[in-house]
Amino acid sequence: MTATEHRDRRFVITGAASGIGLAVARMAVARGAQVGLMDRDAAALGAAADALGTAACAIVCDVSDAAAVGAAVAQAAGWLGGVDAVVNCAGIDLLAPLEAVGDADWARVLAVNLTGPMLVCRAALPHLRQAGGGTIVNVASAAGLSPLPNRTAYCAAKAGVIMFGKALSIEAAPDGIRVNAVCPGAVDTPLFRTSYESSDVPEQALEHIRQRYALRRVAAPEELAEAILYLSGQRSSYITGTALAVDGGRTFH
Ligand SMILES: NC(=O)c1ccc[n+]([C@@H]2O[C@H](COP(=O)([O-])OP(=O)(O)OC[C@H]3O[C@@H](n4cnc5c(N)ncnc54)[C@H](O)[C@@H]3O)[C@@H](O)[C@H]2O)c1
Repeated sequence: MTATEHRDRRFVITGAASGIGLAVARMAVARGAQVGLMDRDAAALGAAADALGTAACAIVCDVSDAAAVGAAVAQAAGWLGGVDAVVNCAGIDLLAPLEAVGDADWARVLAVNLTGPMLVCRAALPHLRQAGGGTIVNVASAAGLSPLPNRTAYCAAKAGVIMFGKALSIEAAPDGIRVNAVCPGAVDTPLFRTSYESSDVPEQALEHIRQRYALRRVAAPEELAEAILYLSGQRSSYITGTALAVDGGRTFH
């Protein structure tokens, strides 16, 4: 890998205001890319784009809103002069036993975590084709490979986005477009922290989570960004339709 590995590669990144998406944006820019950042959190997104300077543009968008996604991807493609790479990071968690999951909760988790990536992919495909090919990385979860309790909606949505990407990879291959998923384990981000900080004894809850992982630790967002950028560049040129667990060993442990 060189500091210029992604030189002039044009990225659309959702969920780019925080956590894994923000780490991907920073690392892509450090390696020479231009990035169209999408997120629903306008303030955090603006701050992220400002920090990245002229290589980044910020587009506020809820990925579950089809019309907004269409307009946002078109705006990003216009600003970037095309699209070579899509990274779908936007996502939400829901920690509750099934009988406490209301219809609206269920629908929201599927809308953001499954329909959202589909909408972004569908809007970006013409641009990737026009660029002569490209890459899509959907950030799923280890919870889409191996279940967790009290996360039926989240696990179902993440398993869905893994299979969505596999199916799309077959359709998109003739156009030189590769589609892969990355499946994170526990990553130190605001989304992850909420899963244990509200416990009665947060440090105990965190230790219980660590014990699920062969590596017995939580990842830094940059460790996920490395895998996502690998699948977004030339070094992974023969990889498509895969779901890469970057999960400290949880899904086999
Ligand atoms: N952190 C973990 O431990 C972990 C583990 C497995 C999978 N993941 C997945 O990684 C992805 C990134 O999560 P993170 O941990 O960086 O979380 P995060 O909360 O730090 O970042 C998620 C970002 O997505 C944005 N977002 C949420 N809903 C949106 C919507 N409807 N439209 C646009 N933007 C929206 C948020 O505003 C936020 O900026 C998610 O898909 C998550 O499910 C995270």
